[in-house]
Amino acid sequence: MTSAAHRLFAHPAAAIALVLFVSLSAAWRPAAAEQQCPIASAHPLATKAGCEILAKGGSAFDAAITVTAALAVVEPFSSGIGGGGFYLLHRAADRYETFVDARETAPGRVTADFYVDDSGAPKQRLSLDGATAAAIPGIPAALDWLAQRYASLPLEKLLAPAIGLAREGFAADSRYAWAAGYREPELRADPNAAGFLDHGKAPAPGFLVKQPHLAATLERIARHGRDGFYRGEIAQRMLAAVQAAGGLWSQEDLAGYKIVERTPHRFGFRGARIVTAPLPSSGGLVMAQALQILEPLPLESMDEVQRAHYVVEAWRRGYNDRARFMGDPDFVKVPVAKLGSRDYARQRAASMNPDKATASSALPPVAEAVGDGDDTTHFSIIDRFGNRVAATLSVNAPFGAGFVAGDTGVLLNNHMNDFSLAPSAPNLYRLVGNEANAIAPGKRPLSSMSPTFVEDSRGVLVLGTPGGSRIISMVTLGVLDYMLGAQVDLPRIIGLPRYHHQYLPDRVEVEPGAFSESWMQALRAKGHTVEVGRRKWGNMQAVYLDKVNGMASAGSDPRGKAGVLF
Ligand code: DON
Repeated sequence: MTSAAHRLFAHPAAAIALVLFVSLSAAWRPAAAEQQCPIASAHPLATKAGCEILAKGGSAFDAAITVTAALAVVEPFSSGIGGGGFYLLHRAADRYETFVDARETAPGRVTADFYVDDSGAPKQRLSLDGATAAAIPGIPAALDWLAQRYASLPLEKLLAPAIGLAREGFAADSRYAWAAGYREPELRADPNAAGFLDHGKAPAPGFLVKQPHLAATLERIARHGRDGFYRGEIAQRMLAAVQAAGGLWSQEDLAGYKIVERTPHRFGFRGARIVTAPLPSSGGLVMAQALQILEPLPLESMDEVQRAHYVVEAWRRGYNDRARFMGDPDFVKVPVAKLGSRDYARQRAASMNPDKATASSALPPVAEAVGDGDDTTHFSIIDRFGNRVAATLSVNAPFGAGFVAGDTGVLLNNHMNDFSLAPSAPNLYRLVGNEANAIAPGKRPLSSMSPTFVEDSRGVLVLGTPGGSRIISMVTLGVLDYMLGAQVDLPRIIGLPRYHHQYLPDRVEVEPGAFSESWMQALRAKGHTVEVGRRKWGNMQAVYLDKVNGMASAGSDPRGKAGVLF
């Protein structure tokens, strides 16, 4: 692990769970206002802003815009208008479901060797720090897109809470303080980022963070929609700053940025309907393979170690295919139908040994793939009409590239690092890849972000989390608990002890204190390498609508308060 990655885990854990209950009658009658907030987000101020929109008669889509913009202000280390993300939508009126892809794109002038040195080794820092790390943002376009097509209230109204928070300021919390500490050197080096620090140092909790430039930029978006960001003065000022710092952005890249609406990835699991992220997120395909490998196994009657063994083996195979085949589907041909099929899962399952770990080195290597074939945030919403939104948004690492584009207040992402910079070179999350996820102009880097709906006769679960490569394993564990638990227990689902395997590195990583020594020893006895991580991970945000009693509940990960971002 890099020292940067180590630092990502350097924060104490604490626990808080926010569970709000709302009565949603079968007729979707609104309940009393104070009961009525089926929104889970990573920050109370963003949740509050979204709840107020719902209370004023707005829909889940209206609230999604408000929550996105508010999070951009109060959780700048996680997401923002300099970043990207995915929105999974369900419209109750016609049960229409879509995936709004606002992932960043590589600038047009980038070349495949921009991030490698003469010996072919990746120049990681170029893809992590400063203007060279930033891909073209997608969130401003998403705000406009959602407002035009799905929302009922005007953008000016929906962005007002965020503009107020940016202008008036908000009190830094412990997560903010941790993330600013992590990025202190980069933020200090950039005069435009000074406002994120307290006299050049990571602020203590309680410090008032004011972002007047960001407020002005958000106002332009509120007034002019996407053109307020991608064209005109803001665009010119961002371009000047990025280019002066060696970045490759051009006016054409900004003006040409496109939202893509995609069909969500859907599959069945033991009678439940799972609706989740398609490419360019690997989440749907990896989860489909893992869950379909597990589906026929008698998971309920297994002891915990045996079950974990199979879950790890299923992930190993799913993540192996992530590395071998997956990339932006608009650029590479990915055998989606095959990789997502039950037949294929059955074939992959055939090599599993109930008693012994498969060595990842025994799976097909990344290089042989054939061509045919903290930080980040999540929020979940179900409104009283039954509309649903699951959104995972990101600037990648904490405070993204640690670079603010001039005096626009726009903190840029470092999503260029989600590309495979060189064949088999691990990225920040130690994920490997190949040509399928190689850099090309206009291409979207492969993601793990997995906003998900799980629906069966009992109810609807809307969930997701940040956590880099571990997003997919966390959501898998959440789905498994929902399906296998005797009763649906939202706090349990979001608080589950977590373990993770991603094919390479070939080891099971477990949260500290989450599993007993004997559990770990029993897995080791099956041939697994088991490592206890330095910190807990994830910040799951979920809403559950119980179809039987019409109640909706929202829950936030107990880890969230601690600033455990990766
Ligand atoms: O798109 C992805 O998969 C990553 N850039 C997400 C990063 C993330 O979740 C950081 N974590 N907390």
